[in-house]
Amino acid sequence: MMKAFTLGALLVACTLAGGQAAATYDGAAKVFRIDGGNVSYVFGVNPRGELQQLYWGGRLGAKDQFSQAVPMPEWASFDSSYTNTPQEYAGWGAGLFVEPALKVTFADGNRDLVLHYEAETATANGFEVVLKDIQRAVYVTLHYSIDPATGILARSATIENRESQPVTIEQAAAAAWALPPAHYSLNYLTGRWAGEWTLTQETLNPGARVIESRRGTTGHQANPWFAIQAGAPSEDAGEVWFGALAWSGSWRITVEQDQLDEVRVTGGFNPFDFGYVLHPGEKLETPVFYGGYSAHGLGGASRLLHHFEIAHILPHRIGTGEDAAPKPRPVIYNSWEATEFNVTEAGQMALAEKAAALGVDRFVMDDGWFGQRKDDHAGLGDWYVNAEKFPHGLKPLIDKVHALGMDFGLWVEPEMVNPNSDLYRRHPDWVLNFPGRPRSELRNQLVLNLARPDVRDYVLDFLDKLLTENDIAFLKWDYNRNWSEPGWDQLPAAEQKKVYVAFTQNLYGILEELHKRHPKVELESCSGGGGRVDLGILKYADEVWPSDNTDPFDRLTQQDGFTYAYTPQVMMAWVTDSPHWLNLRATSLTYRMLSSMEGSLGIGADIGKWNDEETATAKRLIAAYHPVQATIVQGDLYRLISPLNGSEFSATQTVNHDKSQSVVFLYIHSTQEGRLFPRLKLKGLDPAAEYALTSIEGKARAGTPAAASGAWWMNHGLDMDPGFRGDFKAAAFRLDRK
Ligand code: DGJ
Repeated sequence: MMKAFTLGALLVACTLAGGQAAATYDGAAKVFRIDGGNVSYVFGVNPRGELQQLYWGGRLGAKDQFSQAVPMPEWASFDSSYTNTPQEYAGWGAGLFVEPALKVTFADGNRDLVLHYEAETATANGFEVVLKDIQRAVYVTLHYSIDPATGILARSATIENRESQPVTIEQAAAAAWALPPAHYSLNYLTGRWAGEWTLTQETLNPGARVIESRRGTTGHQANPWFAIQAGAPSEDAGEVWFGALAWSGSWRITVEQDQLDEVRVTGGFNPFDFGYVLHPGEKLETPVFYGGYSAHGLGGASRLLHHFEIAHILPHRIGTGEDAAPKPRPVIYNSWEATEFNVTEAGQMALAEKAAALGVDRFVMDDGWFGQRKDDHAGLGDWYVNAEKFPHGLKPLIDKVHALGMDFGLWVEPEMVNPNSDLYRRHPDWVLNFPGRPRSELRNQLVLNLARPDVRDYVLDFLDKLLTENDIAFLKWDYNRNWSEPGWDQLPAAEQKKVYVAFTQNLYGILEELHKRHPKVELESCSGGGGRVDLGILKYADEVWPSDNTDPFDRLTQQDGFTYAYTPQVMMAWVTDSPHWLNLRATSLTYRMLSSMEGSLGIGADIGKWNDEETATAKRLIAAYHPVQATIVQGDLYRLISPLNGSEFSATQTVNHDKSQSVVFLYIHSTQEGRLFPRLKLKGLDPAAEYALTSIEGKARAGTPAAASGAWWMNHGLDMDPGFRGDFKAAAFRLDRK
């Protein structure tokens, strides 16, 4: 691939690896243009020296050119040109009334910051553009890179203090995105424990909508993802601009429609209680804010994100180079709902035997195996094997699991401590706290201050030892509370708020180091369900636990919401017992299995109590899942009928990348007035290819062809047998190209 770059008056193309991208700088007009996939992103330096956004949307003609950026005018005497002009990264100063990207206080009390373009460099896949305050030596390097396949941009900033005095950063975004005035709708994800992944949709109105976590971690209540659609939300059609922030600490995304109806989306560290002192010569790196564009509705947007996550975010466990990919998740068994804390060697071995007989690939022992952990009042922090429960250590259980043909996974919650633990008795100063103030407990536990070097070392060492001494293939890394009293009394008072950055950086550092030392060990990010799911943690986590709510009906809407932002590859879904503990709803095992098969399948039921029929059903469906799993979790996802708003029916379909296989799931909530399942027109198939239809579960209507063209399945559609009626029913089919 050609790669060339010259500054100045020349227009120079820089063709990126992959061949589908280009980055050009027009030195005469001072315009930067980045193209990738079906997307162009353009910004320039206006005559005042500000970096101004010019365009973000569908890919433009290769020869199209932009003139130099023209600042927006002042609006009467109330809104300055500075505030009206959509800047790539605006400092708070000079009469800025919209959300700033960067706000600082200098040592002499000056709080005015106006960032002007200084220099640029070409990088392998985009640009680095340096900005500097008009007087002071605060430098900001903006990093831009584009994915040639999806057109998803990665943006972040490095802030550097070259003054002779410290500078305190009070607000630092990763990036700000802008859209011109139009009618838009906003989509984002909200929730609570056991109720994560609610797709919230609203018209974008003047003012600001703040999506955030102040909790020290990502949070269940909102997720760092947004999608803005031109006009009303639509699954299949229309322009959508979307973004996701790669940060697992407190974060904030502010979506504003400003005084001139321009839309700005600014996201990064949450400025609430933020204060990062940069000493002379120091730098602060922001997280990455990814942004993409699709002309094919919310469905098109999520398909791009899924591709991007699989290709560029998730750990790649198989293949090398261009072929490297995440490994389809093993079908797991997890003991939590069966035993809770009451784990024993004999009990786990019995469950392992049953799990192996079902065709499970990985046996995971959950909470309760360590320290004095009889319930949630004690033990966290003491990561030695409980000798009463496992008198010979973990080895006999692990050996047994291996002998049964499965690999072994283990639960840990490394960042937490119970006050009733040896660790806390030894190091009461290791937790987040303000000395002399009460320490608020949640689930009887406190948060270890991972920002402290000694705590970081302790956590890394015990995990390293655990993984070195035991043949463990997988860690379920849990995190069961949010922060309170976030003091870090090792540091001077003015610097303690660094904890918001250093904690998360150390978490990532530990995960990185563990990966180096134990490259085969896989990881799940769990935080009492889906409290820590974001593109930051997904660099290290092979999968996530979306919710403690395993009710198969609730899961359909949760899984629907989840997939707007995240690929089903990481979406673990366990089949658990009926009636379900949360909603007391009774459902058939088939319905539960098919609900979980939409994602990465697991079993979390008390399988020791299953009868022969249940065992046979699970075994049959696990066997049917394996050969289509890659299509389900890594294919193109089409949400054919949404389960939202109490829908009587719902359906999803996935198509693998060479369109040789497709899988369809159909669910009935409750049949009303005898209504039959609607004819289902499939999507994404090759119209000219011939596809054979095979039932995984359920019957198509008599007369349905055994095989037909993609055009037939997409235009005529699939009809279900009239017997497919009732409450909580499910069916699934696969289509294979002949
Ligand atoms: C919360 C997790 O989400 C559950 O799956 C389980 O691991 C418990 N913690 C164990 O304490």
